[in-house]
Amino acid sequence: MLKDLFIGLSQNQFLNNAAKKYGLKLGAQNVVAGTNIAETIESIKELNAHGISCTVDNLGEFVFKEEEANEAKEQIINVIEAIHENQVDAHISLKPTQLGLDIDYHFCLNNLKEIVDRASNYGIFVNFDMEDYGHLQPSFDILDELSKEYDNVGTVIQSYFRRAEDDIEKYKNYRLRIVKGAYKEPEEYAFQDKKDIDANYMKLIEWHLLNGKFTSIATHDHHIINKVKEFVKKNNIPNEKFEFQMLYGFRKELQLQLASEGYNFCTYVPFGKDWYGYFMRRLAERPQNLNLVAKQVFNK
Ligand code: FDA
Repeated sequence: MLKDLFIGLSQNQFLNNAAKKYGLKLGAQNVVAGTNIAETIESIKELNAHGISCTVDNLGEFVFKEEEANEAKEQIINVIEAIHENQVDAHISLKPTQLGLDIDYHFCLNNLKEIVDRASNYGIFVNFDMEDYGHLQPSFDILDELSKEYDNVGTVIQSYFRRAEDDIEKYKNYRLRIVKGAYKEPEEYAFQDKKDIDANYMKLIEWHLLNGKFTSIATHDHHIINKVKEFVKKNNIPNEKFEFQMLYGFRKELQLQLASEGYNFCTYVPFGKDWYGYFMRRLAERPQNLNLVAKQVFNK
């Protein structure tokens, strides 16, 4: 299946390292905001001008050396400083593995603490993206640890996980992004059937909208978006309690439409040289995204 092929490619460290040397290629430039902070701030300003806030992700995969994790930490702190200096409407999304979760738990915890601490000085929120099942519990553990001291942290619940219902209840007082889930997971831990994943997705969103703090509904799926619109209307849930999120470069008209309808809208803005794994996961989710590649190849 194409999905498995692209997920396999996303996990190929050799291709990932090779791609870093060549800048944004194969159409990745349509879905990655830039390779540096200055370009990314310009993209954020454009989105802000349309009433769209942003969550910024410094792309990075396969971090197994302390120096690489430290570099990523410095870069994320530079993003925080740039958000503050430019007074743009944006916060941070990060992946714990990029900050050293595969190296050492406490090393990663300390890196994340430095980031969250700097962000908290400026009232900037930090979201821990969720990765594959093996990193799920340690990521929650770090969140638990940091939330003893900081309130500017939140995370993601992936509806394909069977444990998601328990997790959402446990973390209901956090700002939570709810997604379907982007990695290949075994049946033991995760629903495999799209119908089950979608049904659980809607169930989790409804539950968190009624019981949780703030819900980020992160999907490009207009069927789900329409159901959420109906649900919030029927249950008198105010717009301040939730937002829609989509990835940079996807369904741009729908992003603008939702913002112009008065919903809070946040675009996930990835940037950096390490674009390959992110781009392959997007192709795995939706092989039609291959159009992005085709356009690029034939536009030469
Ligand atoms: P899905 O792929 O299920 O598609 C459903 C339907 O929506 C399609 O049949 C089509 O009708 C429509 N559709 C979808 N994309 C479209 C497009 N581009 N154009 C037109 N129609 C389209 N995952 C994770 O594991 N950890 C994380 O931390 C995050 N973070 C995250 C942040 C944000 C902002 C988003 C949007 C997504 C994530 N994800 C994620 C990824 C997420 O788990 C999921 O893999 C993708 O969002 C794909 O699922 P969707 O719900 O978007 O649509």
